[in-house]
Amino acid sequence: MAESPRPPHPRPTHPRPTHPRIVSAVIGGRPVADAPAGRVRSTNPARLDDVVAEVALGDAAQLVSAARAAREAQQAWADVPAPVRGRAIAHIGRLVEENKEALAAIVTREIGKPYAEALGEVQEIIDTCDFFIGEGRRLYGQTVPSEMPDKQLFTFRNPVGAVAVITAGNFPVAVPSWYIVPALLCGNTVVWKPAEYSAAAAAAFHELFCRGGGLPAGVFNVVHADGQATFAGLEQALDAGLIDKVGFTGSSDVGARIGELTGRHLQSACLELGGKNPMVVTANADIDLAVEGALFAGFGTAGQRCTSLGTVICHESVHDEFLTRFAEATAAARVGDPFQDVLYGPMLDARFAERFEKFLGWVSPQHKALGSTGVGRITAANPRDGFVGDPEAGIFYHPTIIDGVRPGDEIFDNETFGPLVGVTTYRTLDELANAPGYGLSSSIYTSDAKEAFGFRRGVSAGMVSVNNSTSGAEAHLPFGGNGKSGNGSRQSGMWVLDQFTRWQALNWDYSGKLQKAQMDVVELTPDRDFRL
Ligand code: UN1
Repeated sequence: MAESPRPPHPRPTHPRPTHPRIVSAVIGGRPVADAPAGRVRSTNPARLDDVVAEVALGDAAQLVSAARAAREAQQAWADVPAPVRGRAIAHIGRLVEENKEALAAIVTREIGKPYAEALGEVQEIIDTCDFFIGEGRRLYGQTVPSEMPDKQLFTFRNPVGAVAVITAGNFPVAVPSWYIVPALLCGNTVVWKPAEYSAAAAAAFHELFCRGGGLPAGVFNVVHADGQATFAGLEQALDAGLIDKVGFTGSSDVGARIGELTGRHLQSACLELGGKNPMVVTANADIDLAVEGALFAGFGTAGQRCTSLGTVICHESVHDEFLTRFAEATAAARVGDPFQDVLYGPMLDARFAERFEKFLGWVSPQHKALGSTGVGRITAANPRDGFVGDPEAGIFYHPTIIDGVRPGDEIFDNETFGPLVGVTTYRTLDELANAPGYGLSSSIYTSDAKEAFGFRRGVSAGMVSVNNSTSGAEAHLPFGGNGKSGNGSRQSGMWVLDQFTRWQALNWDYSGKLQKAQMDVVELTPDRDFRL
């Protein structure tokens, strides 16, 4: 019997809220009214006159006091039996499911991700909770035989302690759940610093978690702060011994600084950083499929996913055909109001538009731009055919395909967060896919198993797709990168447990005497000279 896909969700029927939400830190279960670093507004990037949240910003000291609250609550939380913590995760998952449309609507309003994608993002929280419900009754250790009699060995997973989680706003609720769900399940307490431009989504997430899980005060704290205050607060909290683990999703530059800081404290952070994700289109690829994959991976979320497509590396024999069809599909795609049926909406926030302008400045005369009726910001003077809604109300950019990029071009070598995809050619598949030095996601379109497995072996990325796009990781496979994309840490599935627990080995000797390992071990005598 053919399976039917998940039924489409209706568009949100409730009126879109018009009042800004007042968002502040919540420390030890109590909202913090003061805003030592002032207040900022989080605005709807598709309608800049719509203020989604007024955010009270904290300073370094506020982060430290949140870390202290997490530290104080941790032992009692670790003492809650793991299956009971698993039940808390189950209830959180159900409450998120009950609020799926409402949370997705906040995400779309605040960061401009198309509503269908926002629903997928919320589903990723539910999937993550579903996975970890069972882990509450598992969290297995092992019984291990000893090399000596009357002695037994065991392993236990212990929580790491108090965890600081710092996340970006492109996946304002799914990516935080990848850290926070397993961290809580394993008996850790959390201080979360979400992006300022996704503060309303963060507040909704925090409330759903605290209420759904019935979490005791101090188990899950949230603070809002800019990058500088966050870094300073983290440094002070680490110096004071209040934080045992840091999870960070964001740029490679900041990730390197966090890695350095945590390294000084002999900690290894869980780092999920940028990507320059390649897509190889081989001579025998299904071109229609590759075009569909490139469109979704290149321009979904306006190219602002960590897994967004960076460069299409096309076999020279199919380059022209691929490029023509990709450019046609891009030109025909609907761009605009994210509450409508569009491929993508606005930039997440003005700061990303500013940066994207810089990336567009890397386009040089040897490059050829395709895919739209213009390049740069979509305005009345620089219109996009078929734009859905009013481009001037928000921050929208033309989708841009740049053909002819090569290693050494800034556009080829660097992540270009935004709706921009490079295209280049190859004759023999060499090191092109690894050249920029990132290693998050990658994909190859081929019908040849040898090519697919050869690519898998050679590519530096933590994730490889065959005949699928660079985006679209499932919630229970290891997610993470190498090189400029991360330090090899992995999130999701059973792999993330190693981020939020530490193995403890137990030796139990009940022989009543000191048995020395390696020295008091009985050796059987082999007959090494025997031959058949
Ligand atoms: C990210 O961009 O940080 O695979 C996360 C994907 C999503 C998650 C991306 N499931 O694109």
